[in-house]
Amino acid sequence: MATALVTGASRGFGAHLCHALKAAGHRVLGAGLASSPRHGDLDEYRVVDLRDSAPLDPFPDENVDVLINNAGVYLDDPRRGCGDLFDLSLDDLRETFEVNLFGAVRMAVAYAPRMIGRASGRIVCVSSGMGRLQDADGASFAYRSSKLAVNSLVLTVARHFADSRGDLSAFSYCPGWIRTEMGTEAAPLDPGPAADDLVRLLELPPADSNGRFFRGIHELGWDIKGPFVSGRQEAESRTSRSWR
Ligand SMILES: NC(=O)c1ccc[n+]([C@@H]2O[C@H](COP(=O)([O-])OP(=O)(O)OC[C@H]3O[C@@H](n4cnc5c(N)ncnc54)[C@H](OP(=O)(O)O)[C@@H]3O)[C@@H](O)[C@H]2O)c1
Repeated sequence: MATALVTGASRGFGAHLCHALKAAGHRVLGAGLASSPRHGDLDEYRVVDLRDSAPLDPFPDENVDVLINNAGVYLDDPRRGCGDLFDLSLDDLRETFEVNLFGAVRMAVAYAPRMIGRASGRIVCVSSGMGRLQDADGASFAYRSSKLAVNSLVLTVARHFADSRGDLSAFSYCPGWIRTEMGTEAAPLDPGPAADDLVRLLELPPADSNGRFFRGIHELGWDIKGPFVSGRQEAESRTSRSWR
């Protein structure tokens, strides 16, 4: 039985991931802020605040086969009236990176070397299409740039995995816009199927998953060639080009 560790396990997408992993026969470990998880799909749970700077190793005695960095915050969500760069507080930017990036890095640094040592493992970062440069729309700088950096973390771990022997894979996963506290009730997608898809992707051989970015069961891909910015400046430049 493979052991999976999920951050942000008590609610939202993380809770659905725990359910899908349990149904697929995993032993499921969870970590998060809540004093206790809100569901019964966990074998073990530890309270962990990813904003803490202490070394992060919630399950030092466990052989973690699958690490899913799922915990995340979206503090500059325009739906909360605070998506503009010029209104962004440094505290919110810092907290976004502490949870979304530093937390994921510290977990990866704790568990990836052990996976390399055992020549087996999966590391998944729950990212977002919003972390692709091509999807930047001028809002939510903190969230977008934290997910862009997480994607870079995945590629870095994937490179280490590719240079090692064994059944090792690291990939990014976007669940799509799902109904959770972060996604809100307005989201079109149910988190359950998105969690099932991620668990299915764990079965892919490294050649088909390592260093890739998925949305649902399909590969989303990284960024394409720019320019990614359009608007008045580009329209003016187009006009001046055609004018010449
Ligand atoms: N919802 C969407 O539409 C959507 C779309 C694309 C990507 N995502 C990504 O999917 C992941 C899960 O999001 P969600 O929609 O499930 O969000 P959510 O409902 O707001 O849940 C966020 C989770 O993160 C945990 N968390 C937050 N701050 C933490 C901290 N300081 N230390 C430890 N855990 C912390 C929370 O733990 P507690 O429960 O213990 O408080 C909670 O379990 C995130 O990475 C998010 O960026 C979501």
